[in-house]
Amino acid sequence: MSAYPTQPDVPRSFTLLDLPFAARITLAVFLVSVGIGYFSALVNLHFQEASPGEILPTDEDVKTSYSGKSKVSQMERLLVAHPSLPINGQGSMRKYLTGNGAGGWEGAKRALAKKKGIDLTANPPRQVVKEIEEAVQHDLDGERFAMIAWTRSPRPERKKTYGDNASPLKGEFALSKDNKVDLAKMNITAKFVDDDGAGNRTAQIKTIFDTRCARCHSESAGGPAARFPLDDFEQIDAYCVAEAPTGKSLPKLALSTHVHLLGFSVLYGFTGLIFAVSGWPAPIRVLIAPLALAAQVVDISFWWLARIDEPHGPMFASFIPISGGVVAVALGLQILLGLFALFRSFGKVVLVVLIAAAIGGAVNLKTAFLDPYLARERGNPGEMVQPKEPAKAPDDAKK
Ligand code: HEC
Repeated sequence: MSAYPTQPDVPRSFTLLDLPFAARITLAVFLVSVGIGYFSALVNLHFQEASPGEILPTDEDVKTSYSGKSKVSQMERLLVAHPSLPINGQGSMRKYLTGNGAGGWEGAKRALAKKKGIDLTANPPRQVVKEIEEAVQHDLDGERFAMIAWTRSPRPERKKTYGDNASPLKGEFALSKDNKVDLAKMNITAKFVDDDGAGNRTAQIKTIFDTRCARCHSESAGGPAARFPLDDFEQIDAYCVAEAPTGKSLPKLALSTHVHLLGFSVLYGFTGLIFAVSGWPAPIRVLIAPLALAAQVVDISFWWLARIDEPHGPMFASFIPISGGVVAVALGLQILLGLFALFRSFGKVVLVVLIAAAIGGAVNLKTAFLDPYLARERGNPGEMVQPKEPAKAPDDAKK
């Protein structure tokens, strides 16, 4: 049985079905492996750019990573970004002020529990432990907010308060519109706070940097962070300058541009060509065969246009998920429709069975692994805000 007319006098063009079986099965495996390759590129995208708890970068994430956030110092960015992001200059250092990533976490928990008359070794109820952990985390967040507030102060003042190891804790501190705390009242680790007795508190900024950061960021520390010491004011200050909106660095953008344009073009060229000689109707082939390639070029031009100053840069950044989505859909169609064009009836049935199995597997994987993983990322750890109930009175903090 053939899908094509057999009269020799009817000319017809070449299609994939004219290829020997070995060639068709090779092309099928090729299409599937491109699909898997594309999937792993998405996994990479999740880890590099998505907000914790999101599968893929949100529109906001794309704007931040291509257009940049406006006027925030690298130090502030590293202290605000979610602690699960990579440990480097583009990721986050918040981990070292979060949970057991912070030195002395267990000790601080024990000390607070003791103050409340609780013995942590005696297996107290989970809720009790949780409350203690939250309180210690709020103290750590207080340190973090004090550091950020300090980085935002004018440079001469910053220099003096670092030198004096006393940065005033007063005024409102806002991470965002609805994420605010009164510095004078916020919870913060008591040993890093001085109090003049009249309710004016100061934070020992230098001691906080020395305690929380210099164990890695010191010339004597060894390890990769030793190359970026944070032992004195000048070293720290270099990271406290509010950067103009930057987004992706030029070298990084140039690298991913050439990787995409050279590497992916070859891939999309092949998948497009395979689709172009499939048996699907000509209008569909003309539309879909070159689409992944064309959309990729548009997508990459948006990456570069996103660097333009506001308001146009962020606008182009907001197009990136759309152009990227077109690439994905085009590639998906080329792979799926291409696979079906490679085989006759029996092969098509086998394909349907395999695809159904793959979908079933994917759904299982999602509920068993992906959903809990995203939930963990989302719930984890430490809210930005401090508790709403009245904070410790300043003179209470020293006890
Ligand atoms: C457990 C070790 C460790 C601790 C603690 C730590 N960091 Fe880092 N930090 C790193 C590593 C590793 C890098 C990446 C270094 C590299 O790029 O090779 C880094 C990078 C940085 C950078 C970017 C350096 C650059 O120029 O690329 C800054 C700024 C920074 N950390 C600030 C801090 C601050 C502030 C703290 C304290 C809250 C802190 N770090 C605590 C390990 C640490």
